[in-house]
Amino acid sequence: MKVLNFGSLNIDYVYQVPHFVRAGETLSSFGRETFCGGKGTNQSIAASKGGAQVWHAGAVGKDDSQMLIDALEEAGVHTEFVMRLEGSSGHAIIQKNPDGQNCILLYGGANQEITKEHVDQVLAHFDQGDFLILQNEINQMPYIMEQAHKRGMQIVLNPSPMNEKILECPLEYVDYFMLNEVEGADICGKEASGEEMLKQLLEKFPGSKVVLTLGEQGSLYGDGRESYQQGIFKVKVADTTAAGDTFTGFFISSLIRGCGVKEALETAAKASAIAVSRNGAGPSIPTLKEVQECSL
Ligand code: RIB
Repeated sequence: MKVLNFGSLNIDYVYQVPHFVRAGETLSSFGRETFCGGKGTNQSIAASKGGAQVWHAGAVGKDDSQMLIDALEEAGVHTEFVMRLEGSSGHAIIQKNPDGQNCILLYGGANQEITKEHVDQVLAHFDQGDFLILQNEINQMPYIMEQAHKRGMQIVLNPSPMNEKILECPLEYVDYFMLNEVEGADICGKEASGEEMLKQLLEKFPGSKVVLTLGEQGSLYGDGRESYQQGIFKVKVADTTAAGDTFTGFFISSLIRGCGVKEALETAAKASAIAVSRNGAGPSIPTLKEVQECSL
């Protein structure tokens, strides 16, 4: 079973700030670091490090993208479906406060230049049962989902960052939703928390499996037949960037390795805790060995 992640590639510029910039304020940062990121890149790295065979598809700018390609390849991700275009790659301006929490401003760049032709060329390499992982940082999402569904691929959707474009997607084709309560409320049109939100999502999408992440409360899984709860593993927070992406990549790769849902949730929670204890997005993602050998 192969994994195709059609997703974003961003250069993350991370600024250490005493607090997030307020409206009208000019704030000096303590420093800036540059990391590989993008929800797509992070999830590909996590899924590959978690043991899956991963192909990343997407688009980058020719001039500034070598670090993104290198980061994917170093993690074992295949990159032949990443288009190199004129112009610049996507980037993120990330403010990180002393608690390790972040605020993210995105510039789509090449991530928003995906064409239908490119989608068709890429999907031709994947078959029934292969996984497709998607987030919401590229264009052509509805088309990718329609075509992947026609091929019988298993669609994993992390509807982040949430906006109206998600509601234009054929969400009934989603096999696995990986989302938080705010994203769930936007999709269901009704606010609820925890178990109630899981119930609402499963009523709206009876054929889907749902992983609901609840921050400090951990995560919930439901598929209409069974449900599980997973707590978080407490660590000293360095940087929360890519925690959710690490969770998604490790959850899916654990299922592909043959783990049951309960073990996949636990592995994902551990991997995500390790990521939170390190700086940066891509570079913070642990290997499967590190996850299995950690004492959390
Ligand atoms: O989920 C974290 C990611 O969101 C960052 O790496 C940033 O690039 C944005 O896409």
